[in-house]
Amino acid sequence: MLGYAHGLNTAVETLRWREGSLEMIDQRVLPDRFEYLSYTSATEVAEGIRSMVVRGAPAIGCAAAYGVALESARLIHACSEVFDAGMETGFEVLATSRPTAVNLFWALNRMQTVWDANRHRSKREIADCMLAEAHEIFSEDVRNNRALGAYGAALLSDGARVLTHCNAGALATAGHGTALGIIRSAVETGKSISVIADETRPFLQGARLTAWEMVQECIPVTLIADNMAGHLMSCGEIDAVVVGADRVAVNGDVANKIGTYMVAVLAQRHNIPFYVACPLSTIDPGMPEGAAIPIEERSAMEVTGFRECQWAAKGVQVRNPAFDITPAGLVTALITEKGIVSWPNAEKIMRLFGV
Ligand code: MRU
Repeated sequence: MLGYAHGLNTAVETLRWREGSLEMIDQRVLPDRFEYLSYTSATEVAEGIRSMVVRGAPAIGCAAAYGVALESARLIHACSEVFDAGMETGFEVLATSRPTAVNLFWALNRMQTVWDANRHRSKREIADCMLAEAHEIFSEDVRNNRALGAYGAALLSDGARVLTHCNAGALATAGHGTALGIIRSAVETGKSISVIADETRPFLQGARLTAWEMVQECIPVTLIADNMAGHLMSCGEIDAVVVGADRVAVNGDVANKIGTYMVAVLAQRHNIPFYVACPLSTIDPGMPEGAAIPIEERSAMEVTGFRECQWAAKGVQVRNPAFDITPAGLVTALITEKGIVSWPNAEKIMRLFGV
């Protein structure tokens, strides 16, 4: 087991900067194997995002930022034309890695702003600025998760049994997690919290990643297949639902892992609060409503089987949308680093941005 330290550090270092390269835990092979893969260019990082070595909205944003920083360092000895062209390509390849999580585009925008502001400098200075910004995006994410964790922890009563879907933990962020960050923060305040983890078909982020994170920290966790949530709610075994988000629209609609919408409908039916943990980097001020959020469609093989084992009838047609939209009306509250937004709507959300 990994040793966890309380305070700002968590033992799960989803991404880490080591001697000029980015290392990321290979989340495709957890929990069977715990190993890091090393990255030295934007193209490699984009492939790491696309293939789910790293996943989870804030972690994808951080990885993309480091991808741009790596590209600038890789091109340091190139002439200006090659440097500029390489940077443009780096941004493009990262922007097309996955479509739904807005943190990716949010982080790339920040990196673009820094590049634009420093184009007159030497390539070495530009590379230093890009790396400093990537580190800042990373540190901010941990700080924000800690802040929203504290807000969310206050909403959970001692003894709460909390259902979560997918993995919105340290593995999905720079550290601490969003939904699991709230649970961690509640536990740190002395509350006894137990977690019910949906396995999260088809990629099994709940069974493989959430369960693993909670077991590491001895936070009681019970794994269920996704189709068991309604039954447990009807038996009075769930007190709250806390999930993360990939993109929140201005009207409060939430894009999150496929199956989240089903959980939200069930929670409403059973009068169970449905909380969405989301840093402001996950809210898209340019997206008026959920219907316009691009939903990634992934490979049929994720549904017909897992890894080498394929169990579905050969020749069957398959749909594999990776995310769904939970309408704002089903969201009891958004939990952000700036506070709690109950029954979110456009006015309350824009207030978070000072508008
Ligand atoms: O396909 P994934 O694993 O990247 O999807 C992840 C989720 O849906 C998470 O709930 C979301 O990104 C929030 S992570 C803090």
